[in-house]
Amino acid sequence: MARVLITQPVYAEATAELRAQGHEVVERNGPPMSAEGLAEAAAGFHAVLTVLTDQVSEGVFAANPQLSVVANIAAGVDNIDRAAAAAHGVTVTNTPDSLTDATADLTMALLLAVARRVPEGDRQVRDGRFSGWTLQQEPMGTDVTGARLGIIGFGKIGRAVARRAQHGFGMSIATLARDGREPQAQGLEVSTVGLDELLADCDVISLHCPLTTETRHLIDAHALARMPAHALLLNTGRGPLVDERALAEALRDGIIAGAGLDVYEHEPDVDPLLLQQRERVVLLPHVGSATERTRRDICAVAARNAAEALAGKTPPDLVAAG
Ligand code: GLV
Repeated sequence: MARVLITQPVYAEATAELRAQGHEVVERNGPPMSAEGLAEAAAGFHAVLTVLTDQVSEGVFAANPQLSVVANIAAGVDNIDRAAAAAHGVTVTNTPDSLTDATADLTMALLLAVARRVPEGDRQVRDGRFSGWTLQQEPMGTDVTGARLGIIGFGKIGRAVARRAQHGFGMSIATLARDGREPQAQGLEVSTVGLDELLADCDVISLHCPLTTETRHLIDAHALARMPAHALLLNTGRGPLVDERALAEALRDGIIAGAGLDVYEHEPDVDPLLLQQRERVVLLPHVGSATERTRRDICAVAARNAAEALAGKTPPDLVAAG
């Protein structure tokens, strides 16, 4: 039977599933793994369950010819060099379904928090600065209901956000026209436009596309300048989709009105200028999938993917075949 390394402690069901198949499981308990650290730690293991902060690059595969499966406990796989995995015959899997709703819920939480300035109101009350209801009181918010939402990345999470936004808040939805293909609208009313139009015409832009060389800094100073001054930017995808310093400057200079972020370009560091922006800016610590049920689920799903691949079957969430 195989030896399986898990780079962080997981919920018990996940290890139980692998042990039930007769595999030896070793759970590591340490900081995120650099490529060098993982290359060393993976010695003698046939499968590795990784998290999104582990760097799974070519060196990991080159140093470990016995390795046949990398099961990422995440939807995104930008931490894995997939071309190198393919070249070394390593199967890669992810956890694309279980975290869809939790991440879409959190996106809506950010949208409402930024538009209605929820943290600012909370701070006002706690600081004893709430001096009673008045007609023009602060913090004054902007309307979510009926606003136009531009969704970049119309996959599972993007569509789940669109459903909540359209069915719950009557928002109109725009997404990018990709290669002339219609988005899978699944009963939603969605218009497809080019990037420039999406940026210029939407009140809120929300990012749900994978991080690739093409999407890195998709939202840069130029893109921010295209957005209307009242626009809000949401990012629950990956930090490097946004040029974080350019966003901080745009918020400081009133180029756009606000942002709700769950992810950062250099996690766990956050640009100091961004941290200084307190009005209509809500910053969360990468918790899109952080509900107990979802985190349990993604661990179990990754374990199942690894077990299936080790058994020579096609894993349910195959990203790249070995
Ligand atoms: C979280 O960011 C994930 O990709 O699962």
